[in-house]
Amino acid sequence: MDEGVVMAVVLMIMGYLVASIFYPLLTGGAAYTPTPRRAAAMALELADLKRDEAFYDLGCGTGEALVEACKRCDHVRGVEIEPLRWLVAKLRARKAKVTLGNLFAQDISDADVVFIYQYRGSINDRIARKIKAETKAGTRVVSYEHEIENMALIRSQDDIHVYET
Ligand SMILES: C[S@@+](CC[C@H](N)C(=O)[O-])C[C@H]1O[C@@H](n2cnc3c(N)ncnc32)[C@H](O)[C@@H]1O
Repeated sequence: MDEGVVMAVVLMIMGYLVASIFYPLLTGGAAYTPTPRRAAAMALELADLKRDEAFYDLGCGTGEALVEACKRCDHVRGVEIEPLRWLVAKLRARKAKVTLGNLFAQDISDADVVFIYQYRGSINDRIARKIKAETKAGTRVVSYEHEIENMALIRSQDDIHVYET
């Protein structure tokens, strides 16, 4: 194959991979950074996730929290807007139901525990409004790294913040 064509294809792939990290910002969500697996495990411990509860990761990335959640829970769901990360999450967390789509359109009405790793401020505010409007009272919300304003904090440890609606 022509060297120029190979170079153009490589540049297009690299361009997509870089853009895919940041374009979720245009959808009202955060860019991609995975939660470290140990932090994901601790988040689920702090949220006291139980086997028969319904768990959601809104913006599940490549599935770090989903993989951990599947070890403790039978009803694990994730939603991810970027197709490559969605596919990786789906392949890694086989027991989970992983949806390709916008987290703001996800039905979370049966949620017991919602995990988010998005951004403090307007993004978390918008997600908090959705959670409060759609879930039952007493739903636990775990946010990695970024705090959520206007939600009742029940415990906090090492950048993991647990709230209750
Ligand atoms: C900081 S990463 C966290 C990934 C994963 N939750 C974790 O903890 O490893 C944020 C993820 O949210 C996704 N995201 C951002 N906006 C979204 C939206 N509107 N709908 C669905 N996913 C979204 C991004 O593509 C990215 O994968």
